[in-house]
Formats: sequence, structure tokens, C-alpha cells
Amino acid sequence: MQTQVAILGAGPAGLFLSHLLHLQGIDSIVIESRSREYVEGRLRAGVLEKGTVDALVEAGLGESLLREGLRHKEINFRFGGRNHTLDLDDLSGGRYVTVYGQQKVVKDIIAARMAAQGKILFETKAEEILGIETANPRVRIVTKNGEQQEISCELVAGCDGFHGISRETIPSSILKTFERVYPFAWLGILAEAPPIFNCVTNVYHEERGFALLSMRSRTLSRLYMQCDPNEKLEDWPDERIWDELERRLEGTEKCKLVRGPILNKGITPMRSFVAEPMSYRRLFLAGDSAHIVPPTGAKGMNLAMADIRVLAPAMIDYFKTGATRLLDAYSDTCLRRVWKVERFSWSVTSMTHNFPEESRFDRRMRSATLDYLTSSKASGTTFAENFVGLPLENSEVQDSERDPRTVML
Ligand code: FAD
Ligand code: DHB
Repeated sequence: MQTQVAILGAGPAGLFLSHLLHLQGIDSIVIESRSREYVEGRLRAGVLEKGTVDALVEAGLGESLLREGLRHKEINFRFGGRNHTLDLDDLSGGRYVTVYGQQKVVKDIIAARMAAQGKILFETKAEEILGIETANPRVRIVTKNGEQQEISCELVAGCDGFHGISRETIPSSILKTFERVYPFAWLGILAEAPPIFNCVTNVYHEERGFALLSMRSRTLSRLYMQCDPNEKLEDWPDERIWDELERRLEGTEKCKLVRGPILNKGITPMRSFVAEPMSYRRLFLAGDSAHIVPPTGAKGMNLAMADIRVLAPAMIDYFKTGATRLLDAYSDTCLRRVWKVERFSWSVTSMTHNFPEESRFDRRMRSATLDYLTSSKASGTTFAENFVGLPLENSEVQDSERDPRTVML
């Protein structure tokens, strides 16, 4: 098989890239190890930055998003048993976030790719990327029938998530990784129950720790709480989950969760991770294959889409003009913003989660930080600017700042 761009992974990053390339007449093949049903059903992110929504709408993918997405102009913090609201709209100069499930974004893009006869090879695993230092790299794949094949291409996009194979194609002498693994996980549920607040609510309880009340619609709640990373789902029968969420919500300002059938449960480990550089010769990493943020702050999918908003124009410029300037700048352009988003996600996590072996003093500091956040315009503005989404960086990276070993041929 032959194509211009081989894309590993049909998550939001890989799918959005293939769609944007198609709009400019550039051919791609997406290789996805899971089935279509699996990727369309995978329950994950829900909060889209304005920049992500605008990019999807501009690419003609906004029909359901604009109809069903819930615009949130506020965010709540509940600590010391009381709610405190940040007015994102006011603090960020009229910007907001949109609640719309990641699996819907994935479904919308797959539908558009299918309508355009786009090539997505589901249940096909990418095993190896070959010849990345040559003008014609190849991806070795194994289909669902166990058949081995090769796809030859000009460029490779590694959008295969944290556990994919792309990142390790970069020689270990060049790849640097930075990581923090947190000593807690998130237990998340989707419940058929109306949300009790009309915006995302981050909850901090000095003894019990973090909880998050989000939603997917006016009748579906998406709820999370920090738990021990070694705990298993079997340790958490439904009643225990509701009881624990309620304890974290206790306080002088009363609120009562509406309980309903739990449709989905999962435990997610939490880490921060960055790979540098994000490109090597003709391979370009995007999304979770290059960086992971803890979900507090709701940034993972937005960061993946931001990478593609830089990568797609760079690839298009290359195919239209032969210029490699934007592709050569890709890694540096993305990383400057990636590190700022890593900083934000790490800081919101540290501000709202209990860590083992802390003192009562440490926990009071956390409450004081939240109090400052919700009572100081300066602090609230900083949060709002990050939460609604930092602007994309421009790609004017100086040649002298670039690692010459990563540039294209
Ligand atoms: P992925 O979605 O991981 O896609 C990678 C794809 O590659 C997968 O489909 C995988 O099957 C495939 N693949 C892997 N290896 C291979 C291979 N060898 N061959 C072929 N295919 C392969 N982000 C936000 O922005 N907002 C939120 O509110 C938010 N909340 C979250 C809540 C939770 C509980 C979790 C777990 C995550 C959350 N995130 C959030 C993060 C977000 O879901 C991810 O950052 C996002 O999915 C990254 O997209 P991606 O396309 O880079 O990778
Ligand atoms: C979701 C919302 C958040 O604010 C967040 O930090 C993570 C996830 C959600 O709705 O899934």
C-alpha cells in the first residue's frame, strides 16, 4: 500500500489530521489496532477549549458539536464545604469551554472520513516504522487476519497514544523523556443522573481529597474522585462510590447528589510526561504519544488537537510547496505550549489532590490556595486564561534554536 502520510492511531489526533489533510487533497492511511466500535465507545475527555471547538467547526465538523455541546461560562470550586464560582467569561474576555464527549468528537470525524471514502484500517496493528531516515519510510502492519503488509509513505504521524510504538522509533541517543507519576488515580463513573450543578465543579475536602462533578448532558453525570492507584474496580461497588462522593461534598452549604444507575466505571492512573523532541526526520509525534497530562485541568485531548493544528498546516505546506521550514519547526513550536499546559495541569492537580504523608499544614495551604484562587481577580484570571485555552504559539523558531538532528532530509 502507498500513501502520502501514514497515520498511526485513530484517536482524536490521528483522525483530525487525516481529515485536515483530506480537505487539502492530501492522501493518508490511518492504522488503528482497535475496532471502530471500540474507539467510538471509549469514554474519556469531555471539556473542549474554544480553540479546539473553533478548529473543528472550521473544518466542517461542527454540526452535532454546535447543536449538542454545552457551553460553560463558569467553573465551580467547592472547598471548606462551600461553593465558589469563577466567571470564566468575565475573567478571560468572553471565552468559555464546551462540554462534548471525546467519543462524540471521534464519531463525528470517523463519519466524515467514511463519507469521503477515507482509509482507516481498524483492527490493524502498526508493528514497526522502517526507514524513517530515508525519503520513503514504511510502516509494517498486521491486519486482523494476521497478514503482514507494508505501507510506504512520505511522512509518518505518530498519533498512537502513550502505549504506541512511534515514540520508540526515535533513537534513544536523541529522545529525552520527563515524567512524574502521581501517588493516586482517578475513579470515574458515568451515571444516569441529572448533574446537581450547572457547571464543572472541582471539589476539595481536606480529609477525603479530590472529587470532580462534570456532565455529558442534562441527564448524564460524569463524576470522578481521587483514589489509591492500587485499588481495583471490584473494591468499589456502586453504593461505596456514591457514599464516598457524598462525604467529599459534605459542608455547611448543603448539596445532595442525585444517585442513578452507573453506566460505566473506570480507574485511570495519573502521570505527567513529555517526550522531546516531538519529531525525528520524517516522523512527527502528536497527542498522547508525545505528552500526557493528569486529567485535572481537562487538557489532554485539547493538547492533542493543538498539536494537529500546528502539524496539519506544516504538512500541507510541505506537500504544496516542498518547503520543510514549518515541519522542521514543529517540535519546538509545540513544546513551548506543551510545557505551559503541563505546568497548568500539574498545578491544578497539586492544588486539589491530597498526597500521602502530608501534614495538616500542607492541607490547609491547599485550602488557602483555593481561597486565593477564587477571591483574587489576578489569580482567577490566570486560571481562566489557561482553562479556556492558551493561544497557539507561532512557529517562528530561530534556526539556531533547533536541534539539527531532528530536521527532515
Ligand atoms: P488516543 O486517544 O490514545 O488515541 C491513540 C490511538 O492509537 C488509540 O485508538 C489506540 O488504540 C491506537 N494505537 C495504539 N498503538 C497502536 C498501534 N501500535 N497500532 C495501531 N494503533 C495503535 N482531555 C481533555 O482535553 N479534556 C478532558 O476533559 C479530559 N478528560 C479525561 C478524562 C479521563 C478519565 C482520561 C483517561 C483522559 C482524559 N483526557 C481529557 C485526555 C484525553 O482523553 C487524551 O489526551 C486523548 O485521548 C489523546 O488523544 P490521542 O489521539 O493523542 O490518543
Ligand atoms: C472532565 C472535566 C474536567 O474538568 C476535567 O478536568 C476532566 C474531565 C470531564 O467532563 O470528563
